[in-house]
Amino acid sequence: MIDYGLTGSTIIVAGGASGIGRAIVNLAVSQGCKVGLLDANESLLKTVLADLATSGTKVAGRSLDIRDEPAIHAAVEDIETVLGPVSGLVNSAGISRPGLATDIAANTWSDVIDVNLKGSFLLSREVGRRMVSRGKGSIVLVSSVDGSGGHAARTHYSASKHGVLGLVKSLAIEWGRHGVRVNALCPGIVDTPLLRGNISADHISGVMEDRIPMARLSTGEDQAKAALFLLSDAASYVSGTSLTVDGGLTSGYFTHLNGEDWGSH
Ligand SMILES: NC(=O)c1ccc[n+]([C@@H]2O[C@H](COP(=O)([O-])OP(=O)(O)OC[C@H]3O[C@@H](n4cnc5c(N)ncnc54)[C@H](O)[C@@H]3O)[C@@H](O)[C@H]2O)c1
Repeated sequence: MIDYGLTGSTIIVAGGASGIGRAIVNLAVSQGCKVGLLDANESLLKTVLADLATSGTKVAGRSLDIRDEPAIHAAVEDIETVLGPVSGLVNSAGISRPGLATDIAANTWSDVIDVNLKGSFLLSREVGRRMVSRGKGSIVLVSSVDGSGGHAARTHYSASKHGVLGLVKSLAIEWGRHGVRVNALCPGIVDTPLLRGNISADHISGVMEDRIPMARLSTGEDQAKAALFLLSDAASYVSGTSLTVDGGLTSGYFTHLNGEDWGSH
């Protein structure tokens, strides 16, 4: 197993009850991190905490909506009291509400932008203030390959993820001199409840997998390894950038041979 050198450090993972966030929590716990989980899904959060209770690692969880400023302040305060000063933050809380641009209602637009972008800002600000005052920390915000490209029926989602990249760069500029690194993780197509909830299994195993050069969906673990790298000292001079973890999905436009016969290649 890779040693990320994070043993004993306190990491907050928002959206940690499911999918990518859950995989990050599992990997952080296996590395001996003290993990604070934040998630809006209270019942799922309780299940995850119960599962982790046997790990022997210190874990704390708080149920909140990432748009709720006072709740974020109280939860981070609480987690620091229980687990000690936070040195790493990952925000993986996010939603997608597929719909054509001609049909997206204003409140659906606001929901997606507020959860994915405003929530990322509010949580980063709360944790970042603390990291800046201590002169140390690493923040990873989960954007997407949709943060640098458009996506049919995901106008609001894509706009929010582009926004996260702008947020990352600006925070990195403000906080770099205070020892705080800020980066984005840009997953490709990850097999999580969010993906399965929006797209049919046939489309996933047919069209989507067929477009990925590595010929498989990402697991949550693929993303977790990249997130822990960004949190760790192995990324000591990495800030204000994004790490795309997409199996080659965005590496080019022509992902199939153009009718040539190159034998088994
Ligand atoms: N699955 C993919 O293919 C994929 C690809 C690129 C980017 N992403 C991004 O990765 C992140 C995680 O996605 P996932 O696929 O693991 O989804 P998921 O639905 O499995 O997990 C998201 C978690 O966020 C929580 N959450 C949602 N709204 C919240 C809120 N308002 N406050 C607090 N918590 C909230 C949910 O309860 C859930 O536990 C998201 O930001 C998503 O946009 C996912």
